[in-house]
Amino acid sequence: AIERTFSMIKPDATKRNLTGAITKTLEDAGLRVVASKRVWMSRRQAEGFYAVHKERPFFDELCEFMSSGPTIVQVLEGENAILKNREVMGATNPADAAEGTIRKMFATSIGENSVHGSDAPETAAEEIRYWFSDVEIVG
Ligand code: CMP
Repeated sequence: AIERTFSMIKPDATKRNLTGAITKTLEDAGLRVVASKRVWMSRRQAEGFYAVHKERPFFDELCEFMSSGPTIVQVLEGENAILKNREVMGATNPADAAEGTIRKMFATSIGENSVHGSDAPETAAEEIRYWFSDVEIVG
């Protein structure tokens, strides 16, 4: 089925001018960018977005990093978009990521892993709603 998923290009990647290269990789995988904007999120926005991880030992580090520079937030559309995006991103830890995946090509550590993508339909809907209003998504 045609799905939408939420994707984020993280500060380590925008800092290295990889916005285009990462977006191209997503497009080459068959995903279409139907919404996109550059945001420098506040610490509070990062904490809200990652609230599900707030008991994790890396939560502070994660929110500090995510508010340390610009990110690109995107909505991607395509056949099986949620799974397809997870495949093209590769494993969370770049050391475990498969050849040809975004994290294998570009990520430097488990924290600075260049991209985020929704893991399920429910989280995709929530994460899209966190960053975008309906009129900003143009399919
Ligand atoms: P992401 O898909 O954005 O979802 C939560 C993030 O937490 C994850 O990618 C990683 O970047 C980060 N993360 C996961 N585990 C660790 C860890 N052990 N140390 C630091 N960051 C982590």
